[in-house]
This record gives sequence, structure tokens and C-alpha cells, in this order.
Amino acid sequence: MWQHRADGRARVFGHRGAMGHAPENTMASFRKAVELGADGIELDVHLTADDEVVVIHDPFLDRTTNGRGPVRAHSLAEIRALDVGGHVASGCDEAGVPTLGEVLAWARGRCVVDVEIKGNPAPYPGIATRVVELLTAHGMLDRSIVISFDHPTVREVKALAPGLATGVLYSCRPIDAVGLAVVAGADALLPHWSYCNAEDVALAHKAGLSVHPWATSDPAEIRSLLLMGVDSIASNHPDRVVAELGL
Ligand code: G3P
Ligand code: CA
Repeated sequence: MWQHRADGRARVFGHRGAMGHAPENTMASFRKAVELGADGIELDVHLTADDEVVVIHDPFLDRTTNGRGPVRAHSLAEIRALDVGGHVASGCDEAGVPTLGEVLAWARGRCVVDVEIKGNPAPYPGIATRVVELLTAHGMLDRSIVISFDHPTVREVKALAPGLATGVLYSCRPIDAVGLAVVAGADALLPHWSYCNAEDVALAHKAGLSVHPWATSDPAEIRSLLLMGVDSIASNHPDRVVAELGL
């Protein structure tokens, strides 16, 4: 599933949902991505003080909510009461900070999910286990990929769930991109779009890996990535990838 689709076209991922159209990492953003034609959604996860997995990009609440301080210093109940993206949040309000479980429950049958495990800045103890537990509980092990810039975490996820697809994120020009995935036991490379090139895509495919660059909304860049033969593109504007694919 993390290779080309059966019909041969690259998949479309909505980055943090469709953050070019809606507050990032909210249910509204994920719904928007699917509405715009995305095959999958990308999201970011952190752990709360009570070890719940919540969907938010930064380790701090400040930029995207009306809360202050580290996600890790707040309980799920406290985080659920926050306002995200200027919307009033309460309980399961669509504009609030969702839990990973809520997103997975919604995504099942609708789209595939690309779960990026974040840290603060070091990995949260136990987060790999919690993410695998949630994917298992929601029947999403075969409809998800778990990715991270923290490659030991990627390796840990693979050890916990060998059948679950995993990928290594990078934002640099590696000497051996395939080697990054191999030592982590990963199935996929996820370069920042500016570090994606045709040679690495070809080498990755030869090694049985798929390639999923992130996150551009520029039509010319999207066309260039498609010509390289990438397996998906994540965009803040998934509709633009859909348009370049001629869907
Ligand atoms: O999917 C990978 C990409 O999301 C990594 O960057 O900062 O947007 O989480 P960031
Ligand atoms: Ca991310």
C-alpha cells in the first residue's frame, strides 16, 4: 500500500490535514483534505501529562492554541478545553486538539494515515508503544505509516509491529538515503521535497522502498516530483496535487 497505487498514480496526502485551508491538525482540516481528494492525511503526535496521544505539531501549545507551555505539562482534559485556530473548542469540538484515537476512528474506511511521532525535543518515553496500541485498537495497522525524524523511534515502531509500514524523515542531503531506511528497518523515505531527487527515488525503488516527499504546494515542484516517480506527495493544499495528477 505504501508503493504506487494499483492504478499506477502517486497518492495525495494532506499535510497536517489541509492546513492551507483549515487550522492544522484539526478534524476540520482532515475532513477538508479528504473532501479535496486526498488519499491520506499526515498528522503529528505528542504525549500529554497523562500519556494520551494528541494530534498537534509543536511541543508547545502556544502557536496553535490559546494555551501556554509544553503539551507534556498538561492533561488531556486541559488540552481538550483549548481553542485551536481561533475556533471555540469544547469536548469533541471539531476545531479542538484531537486525540490520535479520534482521528483514527474517523479515518477508518475514509483514508490512510501518516502518523509523525514528535519529541520534546527527545522522544517521549513509551510513545511508540502507545501509537502502535492505538493503530491496533482501531484496525488501522495496514492503513497507516508511522514516520519520524527520530530514527531510533522508527526502528522501535518496526520492532513492536513488523507489519506496520514505517518511514524515515529527513531534511538534508544524505550520502546514502537508502541506508537511512535500512538501518532503521523502515519501508519508506520521506525527504523534504527540496532534497528529493530522481537518483534517490530510483535507488529507493530498487531497494524495495517507497518515497514520499513533503510538503509543497507549488505546482511546478509538484510536477517535478511526479516526474521523478515519487509514490506520494504531501501538501498543505492537496487539491493542487490532485490538479497536477489530472484527477
Ligand atoms: O510529513 C513530514 C513533515 O510533516 C515534517 O515536517 O514540521 O511539517 O512536521 P513538519
Ligand atoms: Ca509532520
